[in-house]
Amino acid sequence: MLSRLEKRASSRLSQLSRQVSGQARTMAGYSKTKFQLNTGAEIPAIGFGTWQDKEAQEDAVYEALKVGYRHIDTARIYGTEPGVAKGIKKSGVPRSDIFITTKLWNNSHHPDDVEKACDASLKDLQTDYLDLYLMHWPSPFARGDKLMPKKDDKIQTGDTDYVDTYKAIEKLVANGKCKAIGVSNFSKAEMERLIKETSIVPAAHQMELHPYLQQPSFIEWHRSKGIHVTQYSPFGNANPVYDKGQNIGKMIDDPLLTDIGRKYGKNGAQVALAWGIAKGNSVIPKSKTPSRIQANFEGDFKLDAEDVQKIDTLDRKLRFNDPSQNFGWNFYADLDGKQK
Ligand SMILES: NC(=O)c1ccc[n+]([C@@H]2O[C@H](COP(=O)([O-])OP(=O)(O)OC[C@H]3O[C@@H](n4cnc5c(N)ncnc54)[C@H](OP(=O)(O)O)[C@@H]3O)[C@@H](O)[C@H]2O)c1
Repeated sequence: MLSRLEKRASSRLSQLSRQVSGQARTMAGYSKTKFQLNTGAEIPAIGFGTWQDKEAQEDAVYEALKVGYRHIDTARIYGTEPGVAKGIKKSGVPRSDIFITTKLWNNSHHPDDVEKACDASLKDLQTDYLDLYLMHWPSPFARGDKLMPKKDDKIQTGDTDYVDTYKAIEKLVANGKCKAIGVSNFSKAEMERLIKETSIVPAAHQMELHPYLQQPSFIEWHRSKGIHVTQYSPFGNANPVYDKGQNIGKMIDDPLLTDIGRKYGKNGAQVALAWGIAKGNSVIPKSKTPSRIQANFEGDFKLDAEDVQKIDTLDRKLRFNDPSQNFGWNFYADLDGKQK
């Protein structure tokens, strides 16, 4: 029989060993739900967004990796690729444990510019491959070094067809620079044409999606084609740049989300993320605030089916991100939330 002292020592030892194994899982790349892409690779359900607050991103990415995120979303236009690289380096997490997405910007759509743009991203990210490379928008800008080429305060558009851009991106899979490729901000008609006229079915489509803009039939269409969906702005109008979201209550404070959250000890933001994951999508919340970075990661939990169904009733077809006027392209023409 074990003495009381021995029992206490043995229980303390097993407690310590659980803690150590928990830490080891975190440092070795533990991240909860994962989905499989049509390439066979896995993408973590929760990713870390890095648009805006450029100067804060090195610390934010370091913090995110420390709490367990293993999926980071950036883009050429965000200017955050160097900060992401520094955060990764500081964390000591091996590159092979992290799923990195970046995006081709609109000034580099010409087929002769695509590989150069990808190389510039690889250099800033201090890596020799991307897990996922997306065409950020279907709309081309004028070629050149300027990210936002303007004349008389208006964007100068280009004339490269997004199908030709995508064909150039396909070559980056063949040469090993990109493990998977996809698109962002395409309409249904644009997706259909892309699939018909190119060889690689996009592995993922990154789009605005949250409980106030659910697009159920569009999401179902992606499932039927084997295209993974990543939800950007998963907190709806939390992003302060969304003018249209300023005069209504914050989606993450919606009483339905916060009430459901109480049942699980979670807040409205975490419930919004869990809803996206329940739908089979990845979600990429952004935050520069350590407590929110941690809390958002804990948005990867299982909602009961009845709660998912309740959240399904929240769809207000509210789209907050539509730069059609500025970019000289009519985005989302056939999708929910388009202002006619
Ligand atoms: N493909 C595209 O065209 C596209 C477009 C938009 C976004 N994205 C990607 O998607 C990512 C996420 O989208 P997003 O940045 O637009 O918006 P979001 O992640 O939905 O919301 C971010 C905003 O919410 C705040 N926030 C974060 N966690 C919170 C919490 N738990 N409670 C309350 N407020 C919270 C953040 O503030 P603090 O940072 O101050 O904490 C920030 O202001 C971007 O960073 C980017 O990587 C892609």
